[in-house]
Amino acid sequence: MDLLKQNVGKQAAALIEDGQVVGLGTGSTTVHFIKFLGQRVQDEQLDIMGIPTSFQSLILARELGIEVTSIDEHDIDIAVDGADEVSSNLDLIKGGGAAHTKEKIIDASADKFVVIVDESKMVDKLGAFPLPIEIIPESLRLVKNALLDMNVESQLRMGIQKDGPVITDNGNFILDASFNVIENPSQLEVELNSIPGVVENGIFSNVVDKVIVGRESGIEVINKEDI
Ligand code: 5RP
Repeated sequence: MDLLKQNVGKQAAALIEDGQVVGLGTGSTTVHFIKFLGQRVQDEQLDIMGIPTSFQSLILARELGIEVTSIDEHDIDIAVDGADEVSSNLDLIKGGGAAHTKEKIIDASADKFVVIVDESKMVDKLGAFPLPIEIIPESLRLVKNALLDMNVESQLRMGIQKDGPVITDNGNFILDASFNVIENPSQLEVELNSIPGVVENGIFSNVVDKVIVGRESGIEVINKEDI
C-alpha cells in the first residue's frame, strides 16, 4: 500500500511547475508528494512556494527546504492532497488526520486541486468512512444532539499518546459521524455547516479537478471534465 502512495506522490510532484504556489496537503500519501517535491526543489532549483494545510506539512516542508507562505499572502496555483474516500463523481471525505478545515480552505481556493490516493479509497458512494466534523469544544453536546436528530451517531475522536480528545491544529474537537451512505454530498456539506458549533465538515463536493489513483496494475488518472 505504501508503494502505491509513493507512486502517486511522485506523479503529482512531477506536475508542479517553476514559479507556482502549491497547496501542501496532509496525511501519509501527501508526505510522499511533499518529499518528492522537496527533492525537485533541491535537484532542479525549482522556485516554488508551499502553503501547508497542517503543522505536519509545515514542519516537513521546512525540513525539506521548501519555502513556505500563507493563503493570506498568496493565491494558490495547484493544491495536492490525499483523501479518505473518493466517490465515482469525485466528491471526497477528508479529515482522517483532523486537518480538513485548513485543507478545505486551501484545496478549494486553488486554481487546480489534485487528489492522490491508493485504490482502497475509491468508492461508489461516500459514507462508509465516518465523516469527520470539526466542532468548537463547548458545542459538543449540542452538535451530538443535532446529529442524533438526523438519526446519526457520532463519536468524539480520542487522542493516541495523549489523554482525552484529539485537539485539532485550530484548537477544536473532532466528531466522527456514522452516516453509512451519503446520498447527496453537496446538500449534506452545507446542512452540517449550518449547525451552530460546527466549524467545518469533511465533505469536499465539487472541488476536485483531477484524481491520481495508485493501483496494483498501475496509475490511473481521472479528470473531472471526463466524467
Ligand atoms: C487529513 C486528510 C488526509 O488527506 C486523509 O486522511 C488521507 O490520509 P492518508 O493519505 O494518510 O490515507 O484528510 O485530514
